[in-house]
Amino acid sequence: MSNKMWGGRFASGPDAIMEEINASIGFDYRLAAQDIRGSRAHVAMLADAGIVSREHADAITRGLAQVEGEIEAGTFGFSRALEDIHMNIESRLAEIIGPDAGRLHTARSRNDQVAVDFRLWVRDAVDDLDGQMRGLQQALAERALDHAGAVMPGFTHLQSAQPVTFGHHLLAYVEMLGRDRSRLADARKRLNECPLGAAALAGTSFPINREQTARALGFDRPTANSLDSVSDRDFVLEVLASAAICAVHLSRLADEIVLWVTPQFGFVQLSDKFTTGSSIMPQKRNPDAAELVRGKAGRVIGALNGLLIVMKGLPLTYSKDMQEDKEGAFDALQSLSLCIAAMTGMIRDLQPDLKRMKAAAGAGFATATDLADWLVRELKMPFRQAHHVTGSLVKLASDGKVGLEKLTLAQMQSVEPQITEAVFGVLGVEKSVRSRTSYGGTAPANVRAQAKRWIAKLGKEAPKGG
Ligand code: ARG
Repeated sequence: MSNKMWGGRFASGPDAIMEEINASIGFDYRLAAQDIRGSRAHVAMLADAGIVSREHADAITRGLAQVEGEIEAGTFGFSRALEDIHMNIESRLAEIIGPDAGRLHTARSRNDQVAVDFRLWVRDAVDDLDGQMRGLQQALAERALDHAGAVMPGFTHLQSAQPVTFGHHLLAYVEMLGRDRSRLADARKRLNECPLGAAALAGTSFPINREQTARALGFDRPTANSLDSVSDRDFVLEVLASAAICAVHLSRLADEIVLWVTPQFGFVQLSDKFTTGSSIMPQKRNPDAAELVRGKAGRVIGALNGLLIVMKGLPLTYSKDMQEDKEGAFDALQSLSLCIAAMTGMIRDLQPDLKRMKAAAGAGFATATDLADWLVRELKMPFRQAHHVTGSLVKLASDGKVGLEKLTLAQMQSVEPQITEAVFGVLGVEKSVRSRTSYGGTAPANVRAQAKRWIAKLGKEAPKGG
């Protein structure tokens, strides 16, 4: 039997393999709610424009409500022979209301239909992700306020560089998530145009009102070029790009957690709720959630790359290749959502070991820069010379296997005679962080102020989604 939706000129049905490669219902069933929303707006407009009668439009609208109910109740029978969500819904509508169901597809094609459905889906996902990212920012900022003055080593090259505070470190991620959210918000603005009414590719001869459908579906305006409307997937690409960058941020934090929970670092402990054991080694507490957040970044980046590659060779306008846009995006945005949720849980519960962090902050001559700065400030030495003198003092301490603050004044003066007792005032890690008061620096007072600023700002934002 040929396809009942488009089989007019076909004598036989498709080969089984043809059906298998062609069908998208296995994944685009997830667009059902958006598809029905789009159809409702379309048929209301068709009636208002006098393109279909009010009675037919009402019958279609009632039929759509029944279809929606069946899908929500899980009683809808999805059919692969009907290819995709659009034809599954329309076919069921015809069973319910009869051949007048066929009037719904007037002045519309599956090409603009899938474009509008997918935009609606991506827009909902963006709103949900934004709310989740806000929640993670809040968790981080609250922990940052608790630990605004807790000293830990700051690293470059994963070598102890200068002491910083744990709060300052956490706030770095709040900034990253702030940029992630603004990238999503920016993508959302460009996404929010309605392709419905572009029809197959060239527009339609029916007197449709695209402003009306755009407004009914919450879009800012209709898209301006029908060819672009059905062939554009920038809205997915931009959101996947923003998602990939966010996934990279989460992956970096996850990687730090993996390091921090090792007995070698011992900076933090994850709660039992976010830790797993080993089936053979009873002592183990594995940070699986953090490892998976790090691992899943691969999927999100992969989805972006995959879709860029699908799109790069396509002539205008729609090609069936574009059906490959959905699975990667569904998977990537769902994975990111799970990663944010897991990260929020880990951050809320994690217990820092403040003593160990502080001890580590002092190791590795981390206050050497403070010593050099003291030489510049107090002895008016050029910084390059101060750097050199400090290097000699570090060598002296290192040879003697002591910290800088454990050198005697006599030892210091053997390198630089003008050094006085006052130098010891800058060699402690707490003094070091307290002195970093430049804007954006790690001084606890700065960190406290920034954490409070974020908490106030995030508190004022009404969550947009989930
Ligand atoms: N299932 C299709 C997709 O996801 C819908 C559009 C089909 N359009 C067409 N001309 N065959 O892309």
